[in-house]
Amino acid sequence: MKINPYQPDQSGVAYSVGTTLDRFIKFKQSDFPFASGELSQLLRDIALAAKIVNRETNRAGLANIGGAFGQTNVQGEEQQKLDVIANIRFMRALSKGGEVCAIVSEEEDAVIDLKNKSGKYVVAIDPLDGSSNIDVNISIGTIFSIYRRKTPLGSPIQMEDIMQPGSEQVAAGYVLYGSSTMLVYTTGFGVNGFTYETSLGEFFLSHPQIKAPKSGKIYSINEGLEMDWQEGIKNYIDECKAKRYAARYIGSLVADFHRNLLKGGIYLYPATKNNPNGKLRLLYEANALAFIAEQAGAKATDGKSRILDIVPDSLHQRTPLFIGSEEMVDQAIKHIEKSKISATV
Ligand code: AHG
Ligand code: MN
Ligand code: MN
Repeated sequence: MKINPYQPDQSGVAYSVGTTLDRFIKFKQSDFPFASGELSQLLRDIALAAKIVNRETNRAGLANIGGAFGQTNVQGEEQQKLDVIANIRFMRALSKGGEVCAIVSEEEDAVIDLKNKSGKYVVAIDPLDGSSNIDVNISIGTIFSIYRRKTPLGSPIQMEDIMQPGSEQVAAGYVLYGSSTMLVYTTGFGVNGFTYETSLGEFFLSHPQIKAPKSGKIYSINEGLEMDWQEGIKNYIDECKAKRYAARYIGSLVADFHRNLLKGGIYLYPATKNNPNGKLRLLYEANALAFIAEQAGAKATDGKSRILDIVPDSLHQRTPLFIGSEEMVDQAIKHIEKSKISATV
């Protein structure tokens, strides 16, 4: 029998203290029979790029890399310099590693075909999430999803390799550049969180087997857009207020999601007048967090279906997102459905 060195021993002392991300990934490779180590290497490549972006983020105020880049991305959003820098860093890491054949990025109009005949994996990435918060020193993040390509190795990339539902993800994660920097990921066997130790330049396992509380007392939504909300959302938020829940909304999805995952809460980004399909992107925002949420025992839906079941039809597709503690998401959905029924009678 293999001894799991990451379980607490009988005295309650966790062996996990001092476990680096590299060692953990190596240990976890045995979750995948016949694994060749490429996914492990890919996760390490992402972690390395995250360290570099962390460095850039930390000195943004000093190095004149704050502020706007002067261009808009394909979605008409103003790119920040750090958006562009983070995109370059992750693109380089993913292209050089050799495990990836194609990349979808928020900052790139089209799929990046790496023409890598031996690359098994497709990555969708939001290199820098919450970029409006860069200049004001508030937490930002990176979000990534990893898929196995569907078409045979060596053949040209097809849209079916890219347009996979979130349920096909083999791994997903996020990096939170916050009061400390964390990398949280899943390969479908639970969720583990690692905190970056700057002086050693290593991520250490700090949050083994994260489990989301079934319910919570935090709701996160951009309340300035209330006039655009459908009836069900209004009613649900009224209920949160009646219960004296706390409103917490930073405007960086990664940070809002991470807090709610650990403390219990719900994050909502519904359809609005400006964004009738919601604002958040399915491929490189919603899917990864939905996979992590479910692996931690939480839930994610667009109000009609499970996020992970949505088959994408375009690269930068948006989706409404209701994600967080199971009972809270269920309750929000109840309100949405009830208001739909009363609208039809
Ligand atoms: P990004 O910086 O990658 O474009 O994402 C911004 C997203 C998300 O992080 C956040 O939750 C949401 O936009 C905030 O939107 P509002 O400002 O409309 O509330
Ligand atoms: Mn984002
Ligand atoms: Mn972004």
